[in-house]
Amino acid sequence: MPFPAFENQKEHPLTKIMEKHFRVFATCDIGEAINLLRERGYEVEVYPHPEAPPKSFIIEKVRSGIDGLITTLRDQIDAEIFEAGKGHLKVVAQYAVGFDNINRGDANRYKIPFTNTADVLTEATAEFAFFMMGELARRMWTAEHLTRENNWGYWHPYLPFLGDEVTGKTVAVIGTGRIGLAFIKKCVGFDMNILCYDPAYQNHEFVKSIQEMLDLRHARGLVKERPWIKYVSFEDAVRQADFVSVHVPLLRKGESDTPTYHLFNEHTLGDMKSTAYLINTSRGPVIDEAALARALRENWIAGAALDVYEKEPLPPDSPLRDPVIADRCRLMPHFASAARITRLSPDPDRGMAGRCVQGLRDVLEGHCGGDVTKMPYVVNKEAFAR
Ligand code: GLV
Repeated sequence: MPFPAFENQKEHPLTKIMEKHFRVFATCDIGEAINLLRERGYEVEVYPHPEAPPKSFIIEKVRSGIDGLITTLRDQIDAEIFEAGKGHLKVVAQYAVGFDNINRGDANRYKIPFTNTADVLTEATAEFAFFMMGELARRMWTAEHLTRENNWGYWHPYLPFLGDEVTGKTVAVIGTGRIGLAFIKKCVGFDMNILCYDPAYQNHEFVKSIQEMLDLRHARGLVKERPWIKYVSFEDAVRQADFVSVHVPLLRKGESDTPTYHLFNEHTLGDMKSTAYLINTSRGPVIDEAALARALRENWIAGAALDVYEKEPLPPDSPLRDPVIADRCRLMPHFASAARITRLSPDPDRGMAGRCVQGLRDVLEGHCGGDVTKMPYVVNKEAFAR
């Protein structure tokens, strides 16, 4: 039993919760944070394999009467799941900030709140995007291969290849939500000029503060030329940048007035400078991969570094694996948030695991007076507004 130490459980503050005896299924192991639930009397079943469970398996678990479902971006959560949970499923807690795998319309129709793990992975993702930018432009992967494969040979002013500096260059930040803004903060230290674009949300206050910081660095003689930051149109951002870093959510046609699906396609990639680099840590389908592979093969752009793909894991026959473009195309395994504390800390203010569990508990245990619209990690509050 979860609380053998409590002899008179009726008097313990957790009694109410224990009587409810919530049942939860997690589609993957999120570590120690699961124990927080078990210690509170929850019955938690964790899918024991590293790969995602088949959808039919999730449906079967949901149909068995669970109260809460812990999901990752690998699980397709839609009407089929909500239908299976009719009458008992109360919350879907997504272990990720992105939730394009959850059909929001369906969740709203079935009145199931879902939560995400925003904030705790902001810095990890932003710094990873920044490091990818540096690795790509300075050709670190190719350089290390050269050393490891004993092809170093000699030191020479420009052989076998050179890279491009990041410092002082112009970067376009596509999407100025949390992660885009965190990425901008990192660019300040590298004296970059910053072109911001966001179709939905423009944080002019933030941009003003960054300009003040850039001005101070200039005034104190830390940087020779005064760097700048400004909001511009998508076209201007893409055309003027030396680096383009993508930080938008995936929104397909019909999901938003400003969809982001294939925002980077043959047309927009063709607008980039031939010396420019593209970095994507957001969602794969924001970039048309066939178009990107062509852009790299035909030298429309200098390089790309990707952490996310149209299909994950990246299929063996992806055009992005073409050896011809290998030294200009960095491919990461959806890894940007993969820092120890970011992924696994059970502290809801530090880790995705902790925040995921907290979101689940908020709904099941009726925190915030049971008002879903006041629960900080619930995404689809609109479904519960009175
Ligand atoms: C990762 O991609 C996330 O959305 O958390």
